[in-house]
Amino acid sequence: VLGSLSLGDGDHVLTTQHRYEAVANTLARNAEAWGAQVIEARVPFPLRDPAEIIAAFEEAWTPSTRLLVIDHITSPTALVLPVRELTQLAHSRGAQVLVDAAHAPGQLDVAIHELGVDYWTGNLHKWVCAPRGAALLWVAPPHRGRIHHPVTSLGWQQEFPAEFDWTGTDDPSPWLACTTAMDLHDSWGGARLRSSNHALVREARVLIADALKVELPHPDDPTLYGSMATIPLPGRAQDAPDIWNALIENHKIEVPVISWDERLWVRISGYAYNQPEEYQRLAEALCSICID
Ligand SMILES: Cc1ncc(COP(=O)(O)O)c(C=O)c1O
Repeated sequence: VLGSLSLGDGDHVLTTQHRYEAVANTLARNAEAWGAQVIEARVPFPLRDPAEIIAAFEEAWTPSTRLLVIDHITSPTALVLPVRELTQLAHSRGAQVLVDAAHAPGQLDVAIHELGVDYWTGNLHKWVCAPRGAALLWVAPPHRGRIHHPVTSLGWQQEFPAEFDWTGTDDPSPWLACTTAMDLHDSWGGARLRSSNHALVREARVLIADALKVELPHPDDPTLYGSMATIPLPGRAQDAPDIWNALIENHKIEVPVISWDERLWVRISGYAYNQPEEYQRLAEALCSICID
């Protein structure tokens, strides 16, 4: 999408400090080519009130803001952003909205066309369990003629999405498996599975924060998180790789330990195969590494 848009010299792209690093790089590269500037709204984290999210965007908005690039669920902090409200704000001020929803399919109930967004892209190889490399891009109908695949290949100048169908000889089996993966997600419960995943994480984040004697970084509001949650860890941000290694080597636990915004965090997830006892084990392991 970014490769197809052409912003003007001096235009502003608004994102947040929670954005995925590869997206930050792509934004920086395109902004340099356009002569545009990337601005990061500082969405507070810890977040005390969901209203602080919109307020952060309003504060960072400038008369030159043309494009909003936001996460549906942020990667380092697992925060669900109010996409519909942010889109209303952007459209009322003449900006387009591109949503990085990598984590949303399978975590959130999403009706993309009801969000009003211009562009929305999400992974199916994460929470929907399709094979790696399966993702989807949704483009609002008025923009479809202007969005091109970065690889010019056999479908060039055919209507969207034909241009995306065969961009060179590759293995399309992850895409072909998507419908089966979505059916499987539904057969495991669909909305019920998503809500039991959320319930696991809801209990686990309290358990871990209590064990570590740290404060949870946002209220227990189901609009703010899905099947992942981020919890602060006592310790230095630069110790993240050592703690991650110690969890694997000494406790056989795989979980992201994240250095973000100069602090140390752990991001937990809940899925059909997880049990509450596993978060107890994680809490004990984190206490033994970070506190003892
Ligand atoms: C918010 C976000 N955007 C983008 C990505 C990148 O996804 P992929 O590796 O499938 O390109 C991730 C991966 O974790 C992510 O969390």
